[in-house]
Order: sequence, then C-alpha cells, then structure tokens
Amino acid sequence: MHLPRRHFLAASTSALPLFSQSPKIRTAVIGTGNRGSYLLEGVLQQPGASVAMLCDIKPDRLDKAATSASKDNPKTTSDWKQVVENPNVDAVFVATPPDLHAEMAIAALKNGKNVYCEKPVGITPAQVQAVVAAARASKKIFTAGQQLRSIRRFSETVRRIHGGLLGDVVMIKAQRHATADLPHDGTSGDWYFNVARSGGYLIEQSVHNLDLCNWAANAHPVSASGYGANNFYRNQPAGRTIFDCGSITYAYPKDVIFDFTQNVFHPRGLPAGGQYILVYGTKGALDMFAPNPTFYPLDNSAPSPILEEMKKDDPHAHIVSFYAAITSGGPNPADITIGATAALTAILGHQAMTSHKLTTWDSLGVKL
Ligand SMILES: NC(=O)c1ccc[n+]([C@@H]2O[C@H](COP(=O)([O-])OP(=O)(O)OC[C@H]3O[C@@H](n4cnc5c(N)ncnc54)[C@H](O)[C@@H]3O)[C@@H](O)[C@H]2O)c1
Repeated sequence: MHLPRRHFLAASTSALPLFSQSPKIRTAVIGTGNRGSYLLEGVLQQPGASVAMLCDIKPDRLDKAATSASKDNPKTTSDWKQVVENPNVDAVFVATPPDLHAEMAIAALKNGKNVYCEKPVGITPAQVQAVVAAARASKKIFTAGQQLRSIRRFSETVRRIHGGLLGDVVMIKAQRHATADLPHDGTSGDWYFNVARSGGYLIEQSVHNLDLCNWAANAHPVSASGYGANNFYRNQPAGRTIFDCGSITYAYPKDVIFDFTQNVFHPRGLPAGGQYILVYGTKGALDMFAPNPTFYPLDNSAPSPILEEMKKDDPHAHIVSFYAAITSGGPNPADITIGATAALTAILGHQAMTSHKLTTWDSLGVKL
C-alpha cells in the first residue's frame, strides 16, 4: 500500500494522528526465528499495522509466532511463495537466513509488496545486484535491517562528523570482538557456521559495524586486503566453514584508511574488547560506538562535553520509520543503496580475507 501524498497532507493538517485515518498495513513475516519473532513484536506494537500472515518451515516457531500475534488472527504457512503472492499482504518482513534474503525480497517486491529485509541484503555480489535492480524497479519501500541507522546517538554523531567537527576524516579504526562464538546449538546453529548460508562473521554480523563506518566516512571503500582464519574453534561445530577471526585494511577514497578486526575469543576482562569505531580527523577524534560519544580535540584543549548521551531509544524505531515511509513518505532509514553498500563492503572484506589478495570494489561488478 503506498498512499498518495495528497492523503498524507490532508491527514497531517488535522490534529489526528496519521495512522488513525489510514487503513492498516497488512504485514507478513517470513522466518519467525530469533530475529523474526523480535521484529514481529515491533510490528504488533504499531497502531497502523496488522499481522496478516506468518511463515516458517519450523512448525514450533510458526506456532509460537501465531500465538503472539493471535489478536490479528494471521494466516500461517510453511511456503514463503504463498506470502509474497497473497494480494492481502501489503508489507513483508524477511528474517530468514542470509542466503535466502535476495530471492524472497525480490519476489516480494515484484509482487508489489513493501519490504523490510534483514541484513545482509545478500551474501554475493550477484544477489545484491539483483535486489538493487528489483528495489529500483519497484515503487514500493525497501528497507534493509541496518537498524543502527535509526539510533539517535549514531545519527547525531554522524551529523556532527559530516558538519566538520573532526575536520577531514583521515582514518577509521574499528573492531567487533566477542567473548565467544554464537551458541553452536542455538536457534541459528543450523546455518550460521556454514559460510555458504550466512556469508560468515563479517557479512552476517560485522555488516552493522561496517555500515556505521561507511556512514561516518560518507563513502564506501574502494579496495580491501586482509586475512581471515579459523584458529580457535577449528571444526567446531563439525563442518564449520566460517572464520573465527580476521583483520582487514580497507581504503576509502582520498587514501582514508579503515582498519577492522574481528574475533570471537576476546576474554571478558581483557582491555580493548567489544566494539568500537574510532574516527580520526584533522582536528581530533571520537569513538562513535561509545555509549556517550565525546570529541577529543588534537589541540590539547579539554575534550568537548558528551556529544550525545546514550538514551533509551524506541527499540523498534527502524520499524516505525519503515511504516512512516510507506504511509507518509517519511525518510527511509536504510534504503537499498545503504543496505546494498553495507553488504558489498562486507563481501569485499570477506573476499579479501579469503583470497589474501588486494580486492577492489570495482571487481565486485555491482552498479549502485
Ligand atoms: N538486524 C539485526 O540486528 C539482526 C539480529 C539477529 C539476526 N538478524 C538477521 O536475521 C536473519 C535471521 O536470523 P535469526 O537469528 O533469526 O535466525 P533463526 O535461525 O533463529 O531464524 C531464521 C528462521 O527462518 C526460518 N526459515 C529458514 N528457511 C526458511 C524458508 N525457506 N521459508 C520460511 N522460513 C524459513 C527458520 O526455520 C528459522 O526459524 C538473519 O539474516 C540474521 O542475519 C539480524
């Protein structure tokens, strides 16, 4: 459902909230596992949305989701094609394993649905290119599940970086270190450790961190070199094909260097763990990932007050924006260009870590 702008203007001049005058957006979720059930919670909280359909190949997960959405009495199916072909569905959330995102999102777009597609948009350049083409050809909203774009602390920090607070950005140093692997018998254990299904740690998880770095740099990398390995959890779980550590050096335009490391064996007590994004500029630096980002000037003056306090954002702000983009033409928080660029940045890094060769953005062959 894409309401004409006229409708929005009429609604916005009255005192009534927009949603009260609009028909509900009939929503479906494909993949009601860990993430899909969390997204479903968010959908259920939206006054302008109803849950029309739920889909999963695992009956227990489907039943659980149907129970939590029982107020809307959704149809259930194990066949995702029934979802995208259902004329009584306006919006589709895709929360299946990463290797399935592209095919499902494209089919939904081609059937005239608005799509909220979990990250990564795709795990190969060909998948990403195909989603880009389908999203651009569609008049519907496509939002990638890069939900950090909807967290105020990040958007305010980026606004200040783009406003010149740091001077010119000259280097970014970031990491995503965890204290352990995802549980080997967890809800995603049947696909996550298979690189052909998840894309690996960088593409499946660090795509969030890489997206924030691109946002801060206001660019995407032009090349990458790196090294990935499986040194700690060798063959755990059995048949594992994803790396458990890796290091990449990306180059942004104008020789801006971006250094990224990841691992899943950083002891809790060891300093410098977790996630950070140090953005260095000609006037000073900040850690974009800090709970309370602070600007540290180079000229020896005192650090500036905290730029943006960590606030309790609406955890479903990204979903709120997705629906606002559909109903009222509000800004799309992570459109196809953002989602595809994040995925391609991760794919570029993964290819470099795997081939041990300098890999260029152009070699991915995707036109954005
Ligand atoms: N944005 C975020 O912060 C975030 C967080 C966690 C996961 N995710 C993403 O969400 C996606 C799902 O991750 P998860 O942790 O929920 O995994 P999960 O394994 O818990 O859930 C995936 C679900 O998809 C179902 N599924 C698989 N094939 C299907 C098919 N052909 N048709 C219908 N259903 C099918 C599975 O049965 C499962 O219930 C992944 O892409 C992951 O990267 C995003």
